[in-house]
Amino acid sequence: MRYRNDLKWSDVTPEASWLNRRQLMAGGAAAASLLAAPRAFAAGYSTDETPNTFEEITNYNNYYEFGLGKTDPAQNAGALTTSPWSIEIGGLVDRPGTYDLADVMAMGPIEERIYRFRCVEAWSMVIPWNGFQLSHLLDKVGVQSSARYVAFETLYRPSEMRQAGNLLNWPYREGLRLDEAMNPLTLMATGLYGKPMPNQNGAPIRLVVPWKYGFKSIKSIVKISLVADEPLTTWKNSNAREYGFYSNVNPNVNHPRWSQASERRIGGGLFNSRQDTLMFNGYGEQVAQMYTGQDLTKDF
Ligand code: MTE
Repeated sequence: MRYRNDLKWSDVTPEASWLNRRQLMAGGAAAASLLAAPRAFAAGYSTDETPNTFEEITNYNNYYEFGLGKTDPAQNAGALTTSPWSIEIGGLVDRPGTYDLADVMAMGPIEERIYRFRCVEAWSMVIPWNGFQLSHLLDKVGVQSSARYVAFETLYRPSEMRQAGNLLNWPYREGLRLDEAMNPLTLMATGLYGKPMPNQNGAPIRLVVPWKYGFKSIKSIVKISLVADEPLTTWKNSNAREYGFYSNVNPNVNHPRWSQASERRIGGGLFNSRQDTLMFNGYGEQVAQMYTGQDLTKDF
């Protein structure tokens, strides 16, 4: 899918005009069928909830390498050099190597996915990402049969990440079980609203795992390793009592210091109000079967 590069957040609200524009951009026969059945388009992997504005998505961030405040990343992440960029892909794979970003981005078709996004801090947004399924990348590099997990690392470049501090151990690390990584919902995101990924959102390429708390969605990835054992992950490593490896969105398992039963949807002025949190952030149909037989209060 191609995008107009003059798209502004103000162009895409309200939802009706956003849908309309997407249908027009799709072009040709596809557009005709979408116009006939717009709900079918939304019924794929995308939610039909109204996306947050570009301004909201890019001014309320967590990217601790650039400071702890919600507006710090928007102010500071501009210092990050994102080109050239490469990703070291290794471990239990048939074709390990250091891949240029362009080669990584060619590993799967870039799609638009409008996902719900739920932070462990109990705020949420709806974000129109552009990216490709991580499964395509894994298929291209050839996952060996002994691999059971995927480990990810963010760049750590202190000269450009001057606000990193020592709250966490750098580089920021995350991980998924292999079946979670292969789930079609799991995205390597390279943009949002049809624009290249803004630095504060994890340029040039980040993970998006919509049924898990936002901290699993690691930004500015430079390393991907296929491994046999559960990898070290930054937040679990910093406080295993509060942050687990799985971190599936779960309204029934509270954070030790706050409830996870509801969330605050960012934006909307007066309507910036609380709503119930959904099991697996609303993606149960696509992901619940991966956790059959697991006690999600223990594997939190
Ligand atoms: N990745 C890195 N490298 N550093 C971070 O501090 N914060 C995480 C996640 N990925 C973080 C990160 C958390 S807590 C959240 S909620 C999301 O990024 C926020 O993504 P957003 O700013 O694009 O909404």
